[in-house]
Amino acid sequence: MALDVTTLCAEEGLEFTGLTFDRYKHLVKHEEANRHAFYSTGARIDKTPVGLALSEQISPEIAELKSLFVLPQHRRQGVAGALLNMAEKEAKHRGCQKFIILYQDQEPESAAIANLLRAKAYSPPEFSGLVCKSRDRGRILNAPFLKKSLLPPSCEVFLWKDLPQAEKTFIRDRQRQTPWYPEILSPFSNETEIEYLNSLGLRYRGEIAGWVITHRISKKTIRYTTSFVREDLQQYGFTAPLLIEAIKTHMASPESFVATDASFLIPAQFSGMIAFARKRMIPYLEETFSLYKCTKTL
Ligand SMILES: CC(C)(COP(=O)(O)OP(=O)(O)OC[C@H]1O[C@@H](n2cnc3c(N)ncnc32)[C@H](O)[C@@H]1OP(=O)(O)O)[C@@H](O)C(=O)NCCC(=O)NCCS
Repeated sequence: MALDVTTLCAEEGLEFTGLTFDRYKHLVKHEEANRHAFYSTGARIDKTPVGLALSEQISPEIAELKSLFVLPQHRRQGVAGALLNMAEKEAKHRGCQKFIILYQDQEPESAAIANLLRAKAYSPPEFSGLVCKSRDRGRILNAPFLKKSLLPPSCEVFLWKDLPQAEKTFIRDRQRQTPWYPEILSPFSNETEIEYLNSLGLRYRGEIAGWVITHRISKKTIRYTTSFVREDLQQYGFTAPLLIEAIKTHMASPESFVATDASFLIPAQFSGMIAFARKRMIPYLEETFSLYKCTKTL
């Protein structure tokens, strides 16, 4: 048995697309536009693909693992360990100083990845956020919050696709001058996958003051990626109602019979939103799990 682990060149990606999630397959094919940020590490046994690690260089200093998979019949033979070593080596070669891995606390896989990361000297897992899922237009349709409108008349909600260029420029200019939102909540990240059906903006007294940005991560699933409301307005509790408006727009649309699922990502630092989700949303969702983050200095 000859194990061969390499960083894949563009032409090799096609052989490995079966070893990652549907939403990442085009990245493994390394289409020209993605070639710079994303890279794939492939494992072959006797020339047959058996494992894949897909990574993204998210900044000049940091690379992040997006997916890691080894065919069941080839597990516990050191394949994932070898893939990780190679992915880290490539990150270092690109000038990165840090490698990040996020994983979900879902058994049985989470035990395997947690043990693997411990064995590879990653930092202990740190709670990084909550992921909640609604499936098949399920219990969420009975959630009391869908029946209310909680925003005052001083707030105007609009579809993000209608955001005028001048306001886009205003958001960016203000961020450059005096940062007013954490970069992880930028409305402009991953604009190619943005779901315009229910990505919303909020104006308060006529000025742009918040947004909920969603992404279509598969035909069935809309991910609620980012919810933000200007800091001075957070005390009025506008963030959750804006998110609720986005859910209502989704569920009221005929497209919700295609995009039947919703996935919500709430970063750990937004404790207010986590508390809201635990109290008001989770009872009406089908699945909830925590996201953990491990890092390694290269
Ligand atoms: C997680 C996964 C990638 C591990 O692949 P693998 O090739 O079997 O891993 P390795 O053989 O390199 O294992 C290295 C170490 O990880 C740990 N580990 C791996 N699988 C494990 C399992 N099922 N249970 C407990 N520990 C496990 C062990 O410490 C192992 O060392 P050991 O075999 O000497 O005890 C593989 O199980 C998989 O593809 N799972 C489904 C996808 C997934 O969960 N991906 C991770 C999400 S980021």
